[in-house]
Amino acid sequence: MLKAVILIGSHQKGTRFRPLSLQVPKPLFPVAGRPVIQHHIEACAAVPGLREVLLLGGYPAEELAPFAAEMAQRYDVGVRYLHEFAALGTAGGLYQFRDQIRAGGPDAFFVLNGDVCGDFRLDELLSFHRARGERALMTVMATEATREQALNFGCIAEDANTHAVLHYVEKPETFVSTLINTGIYICGSDVFQQIGEVFDRKQQELYSCDYVEGDSPCSESISLEEDILAPLAGTGRLFCYQTARWWSQIKTANAALYSNRHYLKLYRQKGLPLAEDGKPCKIIGDVWIDPTATIHPTAVLGPNVSVGRNAEVGAGVRVREAIILGAARVRDHSLVLHAVLGWDCVVGAWSRIEGTPCDPDPNKPFAKMDNVPLFSGNGKLNPSITILGGKVTVSAEKVVLNCIIMPDKELARSYKNEILL
Ligand code: GTP
Repeated sequence: MLKAVILIGSHQKGTRFRPLSLQVPKPLFPVAGRPVIQHHIEACAAVPGLREVLLLGGYPAEELAPFAAEMAQRYDVGVRYLHEFAALGTAGGLYQFRDQIRAGGPDAFFVLNGDVCGDFRLDELLSFHRARGERALMTVMATEATREQALNFGCIAEDANTHAVLHYVEKPETFVSTLINTGIYICGSDVFQQIGEVFDRKQQELYSCDYVEGDSPCSESISLEEDILAPLAGTGRLFCYQTARWWSQIKTANAALYSNRHYLKLYRQKGLPLAEDGKPCKIIGDVWIDPTATIHPTAVLGPNVSVGRNAEVGAGVRVREAIILGAARVRDHSLVLHAVLGWDCVVGAWSRIEGTPCDPDPNKPFAKMDNVPLFSGNGKLNPSITILGGKVTVSAEKVVLNCIIMPDKELARSYKNEILL
């Protein structure tokens, strides 16, 4: 029997996803018509013998529990939300809930970061891990990145023959390797012994520490990457499985659009239904339309568009590379390009909502999404996709270019390169 744990963080995390994460927990933000972590749950449910998925995070239970119940019904696996009382770090929560994870005696359990996306083939990871035999305590899924970008991730040096991890450094200052941690793992239950040792050591430190309010050098938070992977490297008990499949982090709204495109492509390859089947209007490339959305037959959508529940798209509207969230309305003859329209937004007729994509450099092999900061060194807003927060209203015949608009704003003129707080 197998289990999986998805680490979903809390409202304190996911700040780079604002304003979209103000209304919905970031793990539930819809990408290609499904909440981000539904893609994870789907990948878990596809592994034979996987019986339970535990969602581990610090969001109030009422925000996650209904989703967990819906997923359990849809995928016919147990799905439960476990509420961490404080941010315990990527391994601290696993330790707190070790009894729940070990219950039923799983042979192994997957751990998935909730803020990554990709073509997760957990069965491949499982076969690789099993082939390493009894000594394999943990296997980390890795992928290739560019030399420069690797510094932003956990870097792995491996034995090319055995794939044992020899060295692991989280976000190194100088070059270590181009092989990076994807935030997807498989572990045996013995890993709790390793985490337990770190927990005991940290508790000792905590109690021997001079407490200075807000400035304590001691912390009970345990990092899977720094406290577990790094010390396990070189022991012959940690392995690395390299995948060449699509993978990306999903830290920003920019990354949500990028991931929307890739998930749509993946679903097309898997033969899952996309908009074309209903064909409510002219569709170009991969487009997902919720069955409750209303689309005028003269609108043109695609490529790479998702339209949410009860959204309305008017006559002559053109939408490309965009996510239109639930109940948003795009009035006649408007254009939406490289943008995310929040829940209940209204875009007036003949308006233009446009952003600038920040995709990985197609000329660099293995390039990943960069988490471009909002502002450049000289204080100017970096061009990015346009995001309208929830309930934003744009009046007719306006242009909104490279802007981030906080929820509830009413835009009565055009805006360019601005953040509207
Ligand atoms: P940043 O670049 O700072 O975001 O670091 P990172 O990419 O290494 O990500 P991080 O380790 O902070 O988070 C990895 C995943 O674990 C994300 O899905 C987080 O939401 C989740 N996570 C981080 N801290 C916690 C925690 O204390 N508890 C739980 N349950 N999840 C966490």
